[in-house]
Amino acid sequence: MIYQDYAEFIPWLTYLRGLDIKSYLEIGTAGGYSIIAARKVLPEPVRIVTLNIRNEAEKLTDGVEYMIGDSHEIELGDFDAIFIDGDHTDASVSADFERWWPHARLALGFHDVTAPEWPGVARQWMRAKLRARAVRFTSDRDGCSSIGILMKPAAFPTDLPREVGPTAFIGGLP
Ligand SMILES: C[S@@+](CC[C@H](N)C(=O)[O-])C[C@H]1O[C@@H](n2cnc3c(N)ncnc32)[C@H](O)[C@@H]1O
Repeated sequence: MIYQDYAEFIPWLTYLRGLDIKSYLEIGTAGGYSIIAARKVLPEPVRIVTLNIRNEAEKLTDGVEYMIGDSHEIELGDFDAIFIDGDHTDASVSADFERWWPHARLALGFHDVTAPEWPGVARQWMRAKLRARAVRFTSDRDGCSSIGILMKPAAFPTDLPREVGPTAFIGGLP
């Protein structure tokens, strides 16, 4: 199953490429489609790691480290960017944020911050974005999922607007 709206997801990855990140962690692999896209937009030598609580991906692309474990318990160290797309309940998104925000050197993204079916993610995004500079990458479609981004101070290469639409990052940073 494809979970990402690529009109949001590709601008998020392109923003990270503009930051010249060296490492990227995804929490929530599922079938592996989002990490395959990440590998394409963030070429080697960027280190790419994806974590899932159980094996659900038959085959991932080369150049991706696939870890099996619980995001609330596993130790994986620090990454330049982290994408939270695991268990979407209130409690789990909150636990993932508290756990992984200190491990994100530059930016942390949450998937589904405006998805109507995941109000818990929206609540946690509203709380988390009080703690750091925040931007939302959105396809602008009705009922779109959106990717909410929190940034560490070193991740401000440019004056981003608070919302980034689907074409803003095509061709580089604005
Ligand atoms: C929405 S899917 C991920 C979609 C994927 N990122 C994509 O776009 O193709 C969420 C995944 O998180 C995994 N998951 C749920 N709880 C988890 C946890 N505590 N630690 C790691 N993975 C978890 C589920 O097994 C599921 O495959």
